[in-house]
Amino acid sequence: MTKNIAVIKGDGIGPEIVTEATKVLDKVGDKFGHTFNYTQLLMGGCSIDANGVPLTEETIAACKSSDAVLMGSIGGDTTTSPWYKLPPNFRPEAGLLGIRKALGLFANLRPCHLYKELSGACPLKTEISSKGFDMLIMRELTGGLYFGERKTEEVNGVMTATDTLVYSEEEIRRIAVKAFDVAMKRRKKVISVDKVNVLDSSRLWRKVITEVAKDYPEVTLEHMLVDNCAMQLVKNPAQFDVMVTENMFGDILSDEASMITGSIGMLPSASMNETKFGLYEPSGGSAPDIAGQNKANPIATILSAAMMLRYSFDMTKEADAVESAVSKALADGCRTGDIMSEGMIRLSCSEMGDKISELI
Ligand code: IPM
Ligand code: MG
Repeated sequence: MTKNIAVIKGDGIGPEIVTEATKVLDKVGDKFGHTFNYTQLLMGGCSIDANGVPLTEETIAACKSSDAVLMGSIGGDTTTSPWYKLPPNFRPEAGLLGIRKALGLFANLRPCHLYKELSGACPLKTEISSKGFDMLIMRELTGGLYFGERKTEEVNGVMTATDTLVYSEEEIRRIAVKAFDVAMKRRKKVISVDKVNVLDSSRLWRKVITEVAKDYPEVTLEHMLVDNCAMQLVKNPAQFDVMVTENMFGDILSDEASMITGSIGMLPSASMNETKFGLYEPSGGSAPDIAGQNKANPIATILSAAMMLRYSFDMTKEADAVESAVSKALADGCRTGDIMSEGMIRLSCSEMGDKISELI
């Protein structure tokens, strides 16, 4: 099969980690007889430097005409980078939000599981981490506070800022369907996270989720308040299978969940529209402090490429091969700095990419 992949390396460690992911994809291509063509595109800070804006119509059009998008990371140091002297709409993050919206990527899948080899890197007590955990966070990605109307103005002589949290029934229903569909392929349990005791948007959220659940009698549905969820993630992470939640709750809870896996450098993500099209990127940021040093952990990006194989290209055995090569590399003691522990072999970013490619 031939697949055309739009590649956005982005800023900071983005170029290094994406290079390792395409190295692994090329190995998959050799081994399984596929051709992956890459179109390099700019987005984020590098696009600001080249084009004056974080996202161009050309980048959007090129993504739309590809089979999937592979992305590294965007953004820089918010206190020192000149990008953050620009108005908010011209900063790197505006490019990321813009591309999510332009491509209709409303469903963000963030799988979090504790590799047994990394259980020592989990900051939880052994009695909790020894039970392991394997959850999928389904974050709504194109609604809520991120996309509601916002303004900063003077009201009666006082500076006042407003952000608005809006959800329509349709927006909630389509993410709920994705969550229940994926739960059917897993352990058939959905925990929906909201703040129903305070927010109107959460009351509608809970009503629609409950309605959609009626179409999935085999799936157990539980509702959880977001503040309790933050506690439950560190108290009993094994209880989660699929978690579905709105945009900002999902942003915060997925960072918390990543921390208990040992490192955010391990977490892939997929952002999908209603078809098989998706944008695949690591859950972590651009880590400007270690950019260009060949130190970053490329595993999250490599696992994101595996999600692309699985969800956009229906290449199940190829995706399995990448995931088992990652497990094998960890079992062989290979570690990047973020997951390093005594007695293990410390590898650079490119050495980790080489190792995982060899194991495919
Ligand atoms: C993420 C990031 C982004 C978000 C930022 C960079 C805008 O934190 O993908 O989780 O908040 O969605
Ligand atoms: Mg985030």
